[in-house]
Amino acid sequence: MREALKNSKAVWMVSVFSLGLVFCGVEDNPPEAKLAPIQPNQTSELAQAMRTMDSELVDLLAQHAQTDNWIGASLSPMDLTRLMPTDSSMLVQGYKAYALAFANHVGSFNENPSAETYSKVVIGCLSCHQQACPGPIERINKRKLEPFVQ
Ligand code: HEC
Repeated sequence: MREALKNSKAVWMVSVFSLGLVFCGVEDNPPEAKLAPIQPNQTSELAQAMRTMDSELVDLLAQHAQTDNWIGASLSPMDLTRLMPTDSSMLVQGYKAYALAFANHVGSFNENPSAETYSKVVIGCLSCHQQACPGPIERINKRKLEPFVQ
């Protein structure tokens, strides 16, 4: 009982102490902020678009690859030349050409969805990534049709 009382008193004192820090502006950040930065890395428009495209490929593989029936398959067209990346170093020389070529591959796929046009889309992903952003290449390789088509 006495122990419990002592503990709750300690908790109370700690709370008052931390409130004091916040309200008096002793520190710029309240102490809790040290546990986890609130927004370590805002996702760029481009990165967000990439995640959407990547998950569309996952869905297409799941729905159409095994049966090789591509009726009704489509990808959202995206203008990659207009979406802002995290940092301008990603806009390598030739970026626009890769983005336009990629848009053409997506257009051909949407007009005529097939294993062949799908594979060209994935090649379009890889061509740009080899120049602009090699990190996701391993992941994009898993979107290839090869494991499905023997
Ligand atoms: C024209 C160039 C280009 C094309 C085409 C392209 N990417 Fe990207 N991708 C980038 C750049 C640049 C980034 C880094 C974006 C950033 O961090 O702001 C990126 C980032 C990514 C990421 C990481 C996103 C994240 O969570 O940070 C994935 C996954 C990805 N791309 C997959 C794909 C897939 C799948 C395709 C094809 C459907 C594709 N990319 C086509 C340039 C391209």
